[in-house]
Amino acid sequence: MASFTAFAFTIFLTFDLAIAQSYNVTPGSLLTPTGATTSWLSPSGLYAFGFYPQTHGYALGIYIAGIPERTVVWTASRDTLPVSKNATLYFTTDGRRLTLDQGQGQKINIFDQTDADGASFASMQDSGNFVLLDSDGMTVLWQTFDHPTETLLAGQQLVPKQALFSSVSETDQSLGIFKLKMQPDGNLVQYPSRGIPDTIGNSYWFTATFTAGPNVKLNLDSGGFLYLVQNSTNFIRNITEGGYPTKDAIYRMKIDVDGILRLYYHDLSNKSKNGSIIWESSTDKCVARGLCGINGYCLVMNDTARCQCLPGFEFVNTELWSLGCERNYTLESCKIQDAGTTFQMTSLINARWEDTAYEIAEASTSQEKCSKACLDDCNCEAALFTGQECRFQKLPLRFVAVNQSLPYVGLIKVYSSSVKNGSNPFHPSIHIKKSRKMKILLTSVSLISFAIIIMLFSGVLIFCRRHIQANRNKYENANVKLSEEMGPREFSYAELERITNGFQEELGRGSFGIVYKGMIENSKKAVAVKKLREELTHEGEQEFQTEMKVIGRTHHRNLATLVGYCSQGSERLLVFEYMTKGSLADILFTPKESKPKPCWTERIRMAIDIARGIVYLHEECEKTIIHCDIKPHNILMDEYGCAKISDFGLAKLLENDQTRTNTLIRGTRGYVAPEWHKKLPITVKVDVYSFGILFFNILCCRRNVDNSLPVDEAVLAEWVYDCYEAGQVSKLVNGEDVDNWTLVRMVQVGLWCIQEDPSIRPSMKKVLLMLEGSIEIPVPPNPASILSVF
Ligand SMILES: *[C@@H]1O[C@H](CO)[C@@H](O)[C@H](O)[C@H]1NC(C)=O
Ligand SMILES: *[C@@H]1O[C@H](CO)[C@@H](O)[C@H](O)[C@H]1NC(C)=O
Ligand SMILES: *[C@@H]1O[C@H](CO)[C@@H](O)[C@H](O)[C@H]1NC(C)=O
Ligand SMILES: *[C@@H]1O[C@H](CO)[C@@H](O)[C@H](O)[C@H]1NC(C)=O
Ligand SMILES: *[C@@H]1O[C@H](CO)[C@@H](O)[C@H](O)[C@H]1NC(C)=O
Ligand SMILES: *[C@@H]1O[C@H](CO)[C@@H](O)[C@H](O)[C@H]1NC(C)=O
Ligand SMILES: *[C@@H]1O[C@H](CO)[C@@H](O)[C@H](O)[C@H]1NC(C)=O
Ligand SMILES: *[C@@H]1O[C@H](CO)[C@@H](O)[C@H](O)[C@H]1NC(C)=O
Ligand SMILES: *[C@@H]1O[C@H](CO)[C@@H](O)[C@H](O)[C@H]1NC(C)=O
Repeated sequence: MASFTAFAFTIFLTFDLAIAQSYNVTPGSLLTPTGATTSWLSPSGLYAFGFYPQTHGYALGIYIAGIPERTVVWTASRDTLPVSKNATLYFTTDGRRLTLDQGQGQKINIFDQTDADGASFASMQDSGNFVLLDSDGMTVLWQTFDHPTETLLAGQQLVPKQALFSSVSETDQSLGIFKLKMQPDGNLVQYPSRGIPDTIGNSYWFTATFTAGPNVKLNLDSGGFLYLVQNSTNFIRNITEGGYPTKDAIYRMKIDVDGILRLYYHDLSNKSKNGSIIWESSTDKCVARGLCGINGYCLVMNDTARCQCLPGFEFVNTELWSLGCERNYTLESCKIQDAGTTFQMTSLINARWEDTAYEIAEASTSQEKCSKACLDDCNCEAALFTGQECRFQKLPLRFVAVNQSLPYVGLIKVYSSSVKNGSNPFHPSIHIKKSRKMKILLTSVSLISFAIIIMLFSGVLIFCRRHIQANRNKYENANVKLSEEMGPREFSYAELERITNGFQEELGRGSFGIVYKGMIENSKKAVAVKKLREELTHEGEQEFQTEMKVIGRTHHRNLATLVGYCSQGSERLLVFEYMTKGSLADILFTPKESKPKPCWTERIRMAIDIARGIVYLHEECEKTIIHCDIKPHNILMDEYGCAKISDFGLAKLLENDQTRTNTLIRGTRGYVAPEWHKKLPITVKVDVYSFGILFFNILCCRRNVDNSLPVDEAVLAEWVYDCYEAGQVSKLVNGEDVDNWTLVRMVQVGLWCIQEDPSIRPSMKKVLLMLEGSIEIPVPPNPASILSVF
């Protein structure tokens, strides 16, 4: 410990020394890629700040100039690379700006201090840090060490909320697809970064230090010691041992193009030696999730990672594997009327992918049966055969992995003409099944009407797609056509009467109507049939159909799937998939001997699931859907314990009714936001409020109001706030073993959600990020609304 402190002092001393001795760049200086001065060197010539050539042009950055290989350690403005040979870097004469003129009219201020005295000089230091200094030469106004890109050098830190982003390639430092994030919760995590949320499930490496708390930083010292530290005395995790040579040595940690972290050592005493790797986060070169993009997978060949496309697919861009693979046609098998068209299943042995199965076929005891079942279901585009189950999936397939240790078989549906025998030379285990004619059944009357509906819908069918953040043109192609979704089917009233056996078995009563259990005869699929209340049926046929289409287009693993609907005369019915495990209310409030209440981590996972579903409704759908009735009774649990939101989209049907009476509050007492009572505009924030209350139900496993409890505990939200204020949150979980710091954070998230002023409540997206620990949680104000609601 003492040696570390001593070492830290040494660093600071050398820093000051370096500043004093360094070669100074004065205001008014400029750099150009091809002119007289292309870079500014550090005193020993080891590092250079300036232009360097990169793919299709130049980039501005810092590279190690003292070794034969050009090794870039920092790059300016990575999202606008490359710059042309006409680019210029100006250090303005007043010292207030460091401006990169890209040569095509666009100017970027790397440093901009218009409201204060400018910098007196700039300096490229021998530590690899480029600094702008005040007139006393001591105060650092700006430094590259505070703005890491893909590399961490000795003496540099990655502080909470900062991230390193990989490059597109070794010769193009544009933003790549992986990141290393220093989270405010103390965990250091690697995530795929493009359009994929930062959740622990999507990560592929982490230090598991998420209970370490705030202010944890990643450090690298001059002896190759890489570690997480909270303050100078509190080591959180030593990632490398350190203690490597310090004389004539450079250490740099980088998130490489393949997403793996590597610590490199350069021996400056022997110029003919290249850098060597002394530590890496994984030796499996295919470990990074999403390395090969959607519909692609990674194989290690001759010790290098190579991407492959699923059978029948081709690379979007053969130079940029991360863009994934696509087919040059869309497999709209449900719309194909040409009975001559053939499909077949190809198999990929030892495969797995991100499971977002929309259906699990029962009793698929063999791969052949699974293949056949997928061929027979026109919605099925791929299936994962696990030995017991056949999990139907739609495209695109994400995070496909092929590895000898995986016991599953991936089955992918293709046009028989698009795959030739042995079309994939790299993977011998891909083989082609006998082709089979697509069954087109247009015999029964109901199917004919179904086909008519499809034709009516097909013109307007647009699918809900995930918002893929593509801030570069070349990534725009990455929005590979997601498969088109089928709308829900229309049932006749008589059909539903038969399915539910005359509306016999009642499953429950909700704010929208009564729910009955049913069984669709030919597919043996259990369904929940919801008969809407009278008031909801004022809605005209047209509006109802429109709303059903909106709901039918939603597709998310945390939303119940609308199987179909019926609109006949004054009857309005909805058919949902049946959830075997009941509602969240059953699980939380009436735990049975055989089914004790879920544990803390399980509950948090459920809350995150629900939050994801709401984020989808609010932000990721084609049309924003406000649920208006988020409560535990509307959260259904499937057999895998996955929480699914039901009853969404129905509030819309009340709209006409609402304008008529203007008093009807949609939603359930205790969960409705104060703005309902105040007749304020209703926004997505009403769902945030309801989620907050629901979240407290989940945290504490109890109802909103429980009069069997002492008066000061009877109202849940009030009690939560009291415990929080008194610093006694552990009371809330009734002796369960939960880390106090985590519990406080979770309570804070809930308190933010139930703020009286809707504008203060965070968006659902932000709530999700807070739950996942991706963003910091500020201290919430007292939610004054608590009393006004009860
Ligand atoms: C981590 O390194 C520091 C400094 O060398 C040392 O004091 C500490 O004991 C190490 N911790 C572990 C767990 O090895
Ligand atoms: C650079 O400037 C010259 C002269 O102004 C112009 O002709 C040329 O097109 C420019 N090149 C680029 C790549 O912008
Ligand atoms: C360092 O952190 C530990 C644990 O959080 C704390 O007990 C200690 O007082 C801190 N030391 C300093 C110097 O801040
Ligand atoms: C320098 O490194 C090269 C390559 O590793 C090696 O062959 C050579 O012997 C080294 N020279 C010295 C002086 O260590
Ligand atoms: C060093 O790297 C360069 C370029 O990557 C390569 O051409 C050269 O052979 C390497 N030298 C040694 C000694 O590995
Ligand atoms: C792998 O290496 C072997 C021998 O080094 C070579 O014959 C083979 O072509 C390589 N395979 C690939 C796919 O590069
Ligand atoms: C799709 O690709 C296959 C194989 O590359 C080719 O034979 C076929 O003509 C292509 N189809 C279209 C519509 O481009
Ligand atoms: C296969 O997967 C296992 C478990 O995920 C992993 O430990 C192993 O390194 C992988 N092997 C290869 C060759 O990718
Ligand atoms: C494809 O493979 C099957 C079975 O191996 C074989 O019967 C068929 O003739 C092959 N087709 C072509 C075009 O090579």
